[in-house]
Amino acid sequence: MPTTLEKLDQRRAEARLGGGQKRIDAQHAKGRLTARERLEILLDEGSFEELDMFVEHNCIDFGMDASHIPGDGVVTGSGTINGRLVFVFSQDFTVFGGSLSERHAQKICKIMDMALKVGAPVIGLNDSGGARIQEGVASLGGYAEVFQRNVLASGVVPQLSLIMGPCAGGAVYSPAMTDFIFMVKDSSYMFVTGPDVVKTVTNEVVSQEDLGGASAHTVKSGVADVAFENDVEALLAARDFIDFLPESNRSGVPVRPTDDPWDRQEPSLDTLIPASANIPYDMHELIQKTVDEGDFFEIQPAHAANIITGFGRIEGRTVGIVANQPMVLAGVLDIASSRKAARFVRFCDAFEIPIVTFVDVPGFLPGTAQEHNGIIKHGAKLLFAYAEATVPKITVITRKAYGGAYDVMASKHLRGDLNYAWPTAEIAVMGAKGAVEIIFRQEAKDPEKLAARTAEYEARFANPFVAASKGFIDEIIMPHSTRRRVALGLRKLRNKQLENPWKKHDNIPL
Ligand code: HXC
Repeated sequence: MPTTLEKLDQRRAEARLGGGQKRIDAQHAKGRLTARERLEILLDEGSFEELDMFVEHNCIDFGMDASHIPGDGVVTGSGTINGRLVFVFSQDFTVFGGSLSERHAQKICKIMDMALKVGAPVIGLNDSGGARIQEGVASLGGYAEVFQRNVLASGVVPQLSLIMGPCAGGAVYSPAMTDFIFMVKDSSYMFVTGPDVVKTVTNEVVSQEDLGGASAHTVKSGVADVAFENDVEALLAARDFIDFLPESNRSGVPVRPTDDPWDRQEPSLDTLIPASANIPYDMHELIQKTVDEGDFFEIQPAHAANIITGFGRIEGRTVGIVANQPMVLAGVLDIASSRKAARFVRFCDAFEIPIVTFVDVPGFLPGTAQEHNGIIKHGAKLLFAYAEATVPKITVITRKAYGGAYDVMASKHLRGDLNYAWPTAEIAVMGAKGAVEIIFRQEAKDPEKLAARTAEYEARFANPFVAASKGFIDEIIMPHSTRRRVALGLRKLRNKQLENPWKKHDNIPL
C-alpha cells in the first residue's frame, strides 16, 4: 500500500508524463523538446517552482469528460535566470496539442498576475494549436483573459514569447502583444489560420513553413524578432537576452560587472568611413567597438536590415542601440525600418533603457510603393517614438544625416540630450547633387556648372560645422573616442528627469 507521500510522488510522476510516452516520442522525433525539458534549459538548475500541476479541464462535450490530463497542457510557475526572477508558462503539445482551454488560460493568467504584482518578466514557451476546439466559447474567453493581461503588462514587465511548435489562432495573438518573439527554424510556425483553412477559404495551397515559418516572420513580415536553429539554441539565447532587460519599468537596468575599460579608444574607427560617400561600410563594426566586450544582442537582424536595433552594455549597464546600416539600401528609412525602430525605441523608453543612436541616413525612400503603402504614417511612428521618449538619448552622426531623416534620428530638436558628430558628418537637406538640380535647375543642364555648384553645396553643407555652429550638434568628436564619449554621456544622464505633459495616453500614428 503506498503511503500518502508516495501517492503524491506517483501523481506528480503521472502529471509529468503529460500526454504520455508515445506523444513525447513523437515530439522528440520532430526535433522538439517537451514543455518540461524546455523549462530545464531556460531556467537556472533547480530553480523552477511549479504551480497548478493538478489543474484539469472542465469540458464535458465531445467525449472530453473521459479524458483528463493533470496540468491541462501547460506547465506554469516561476524560476530564475542567472539569479533573477522570471515567471514562465510552457505549453505541452502532447496534451490536446497544447490547445488552450478555460483552465489552461486560468493557469497562464495566474502567473501573469503574479508577475505584474511583483514586477518580474513573463516568458511564454508557445507550442499550441490555439483555442481548444471542444470547449468553444469558453476557450475564446480564456484567450481574451490572457490578451487583457498581455496589454496590462505591456510597458510594466518585459514579456518574451518563444514560438516552439505550430502555433495557430489565439496562440499567435497573445505573442503578438508581447515585446519580443523568438522562433525556431523549420520547427515553429505562426498563423492566424493553418494551411487547411487557407485552402478551404482561398483555395491557396501552402505549406506550414511558407505560410508562417521562421523565415516568413523574421525576414518578411517582421512579426517575429529572431530565428534560431533549434529549441536549445533559442532557449539559451533567451537566457542571454533576459540578462539585458530590466525586471520591470521601475527596477532600472541590470548592472553587470565588466573588465572592458570605459575609455577604451578604437583607432580603427578613424578610418571606418570610406573616402567616397557612396561606398558603404558595416555599421555593426562601430556598434561592436562601442559596447562592452563587443556583446550586442540584435533584434530583427534579418528584417529591414537597413536599420539595426539591439541591446548592448556600456559600463555594465544596458543600452538600446539604433543605427542606420549603409550596407543595406544605403541605410535609407522606409516603411519596414521605421516600424522596426519605432517599436524598439518605445520598448526602451517604457523600460528606462537609454538609447544610443548612430546616424548615417540618406533620407526616406522615395517611390509609389512606399507612398501608397503609407510611408508618411509609418515614418511618423519613428519620429513620434523618438520625440516622446524621455530616457537618456545620445546621438552620433557618422556620415549622412539628410532631410527629414536628420530630424527623425534622435536629433537635438527631438530632445536629444547629447548630439555628437564625427568630422565626416554631412548634415543637409539632401545630397549635394540632388540639391543643386533643384535650386539651380537651369545651370544644372550644363555639366560644368553642375559640378561647380555641387562642389559649392558640398563645401557649405557636407560637414558637421554648420549644424555645430547652431548648437544642433553639441560637439564634433574623434571617431576613436566614441565609446568614451558615450560612456561619459550616459554617466551624466543617469539621473535625468524629464516628463511629458499629463495625458491619458498618446495617439501614436498606428
Ligand atoms: C483541440 C487540438 C487543437 C485544438 C490540435 N489539437 N489543435 N485539440 N483544439 N485547437 C490536437 C489534435 O486533435 C491532435 O490530437 C493533437 O492536438 C496534435 O495535433 P495534430 O493535428 O496531429 O498535429 P500537427 O499535424 O502537428 O498539426 C498542428 C496544427 C493542427 C497545425 C496546430 O493541429 C491545427 O491546424 N490545429 C487547429 C488549429 C486551429 O485552427 N485552432 C483554432 C484557432 S481559433 P491527438 O489526440 O490526435 O493527438 C483560435 C481562436 C482565438 O485560436 C482567436 C483569438 C483572436
